[in-house]
Order: sequence, then structure tokens, then C-alpha cells
Amino acid sequence: MIQIQNPVMWKQTMEQNTAAGLKTGFVPTMGALHKGHLSLMERAQAEQDLLAVSIFVNPTQFNDPTDLRDYPNRIEEDIAKLTDIKADYLFLPGYDDLYPDSCRYSVVEKDFSGQLCGRNRPGHFSGVLTVVLKLLLLTEAKAAYFGEKDWQQYKLIKGMAEAFFLDTEIIACPVVREDSGLACSSRNELLSSSERNQAARLYEVLSKYARNPCAGAAESAAQELAAQGFAVEYLQQVEDRLLAAVQIGSVRLIDNVRVTAISS
Ligand code: PAF
Repeated sequence: MIQIQNPVMWKQTMEQNTAAGLKTGFVPTMGALHKGHLSLMERAQAEQDLLAVSIFVNPTQFNDPTDLRDYPNRIEEDIAKLTDIKADYLFLPGYDDLYPDSCRYSVVEKDFSGQLCGRNRPGHFSGVLTVVLKLLLLTEAKAAYFGEKDWQQYKLIKGMAEAFFLDTEIIACPVVREDSGLACSSRNELLSSSERNQAARLYEVLSKYARNPCAGAAESAAQELAAQGFAVEYLQQVEDRLLAAVQIGSVRLIDNVRVTAISS
């Protein structure tokens, strides 16, 4: 696996591959790689000639400095995992590499980014869209792969790619879950074992109400979670998804379930 820190060198390398007729599948990450990330990479490897991954814990998408400080950093393990799955390229930029403008320029979406996760996390999606635009422009991949656990993020990135006529296809991949049903997330590492057991109830409750979509299902699901000790930030149906953000102790978790996809 070739590791590159410098954005200019990364761009040149990616361009050379494209000029040689090779299609790149790109998976941007913030590291602490888990089964969910690996499933995106597997799909990219199945569909494209080369797998390019980036690891960059993007400070501009954290509105809470404690959340940024506590975000897991597992760089050596991540590199071992990527080597193991035979990733071709790893982009490991530093803050100054990606933000030579010291964040003077940013991408702002004026509607959906203020809802759901955006309601209580001012600037979060602007930080995500800005860094993803930079990464997509530097990589010019055939396709970039994002997990549906972050469904709002996926929708916003797809919308941005269309709005800015980007050539990269934005592909959504299904949520990967632990045996308990808990959606794989780098933040799961921050849960104690009892919190982890409780966290699995989130998927159970969402699935139950997604199986019986009716007026008031979201409110009932929120009440049921609150009764089980979750601090519910939101629980809402958007399009065909029942989406939730909850807090367990100091850990914030999100999940979503397709309303029509669950058979009773
Ligand atoms: O989903 C993530 O890990 C991040 O939001 C992303 C897309 C890598 C941007 O920093």
C-alpha cells in the first residue's frame, strides 16, 4: 500500500492512474476502522480497479471539542487492516495539508443540513461537506463509497456532488451491524459493556416501529427509548427512513432503518 500525505502528490498519483485507464474506488474515513468501513472497501474493490482510502479526523465537523478529543485514534491498527485487505493507496493528510486556506472557504447547504443531526450540531455538515469536497476533488475517483448509517451525510454529499457537477459517483452501502444489531461505529468503542448492551436496544425499537409504520410511530418509538434510559435527540421519519440520534452516557449514537424493508 502506498501512503501519501501531500495533497499535490496524491492528486498527481490519482490522475496518473486514471490516465492509465484504471478506475479508483475511494473510501474517505476518520480512521478507527471497523467492519462497516471494511464493507465499503470490499465493495469498492469488487467494483473498481484500485482502492484508495483516506484517514483524516476532520476538526471542522466537530462542534464539541470534547468529542474531537475523545475520538478514537488507532492509526497503526488501521494501517495494518488496510495492508491486510490489500488497499492500494492511503491518503494521510495533516490539517495544514487539507486546509491551506485556514478554513476561509467552506461549503454550506441551506436546507436539509439544518435538520436531524444538523439541528444540534451547528456547522457539522458544513465541515463534512467541505472536507469531502476537497477529498473528492483531490482524488477524482470513479466512485466514492459511504455508509447508510450516516444516511443524512450520504444524502447531503450526493446532493453536493450533483450541485457541483462532480464526476465521482456517490454510492451508498448498507449499514453493517454487530450480532446484537448495534450499528458498527467508531464511537462504539467508547461505550462500557453495559452501555453497549443498552445500545443494541436502539435498533430493536427502530425496527419494531419500522415494521408497523403508522401515524405517531416516531413519537411512540421515542417514548419507548426514553423509558429505557436513552436521551433521545431526535427520532423522525424522513422519506422511507426512521432515523434516530440518542445519547447513552457521554456517547452519541445514530442509526436508521428503512421503513418498508423490514418484513413482519
Ligand atoms: O463519515 C465520516 O467518517 C466522515 O464524516 C467523513 C465522510 C470521512 C468526512 O470527514
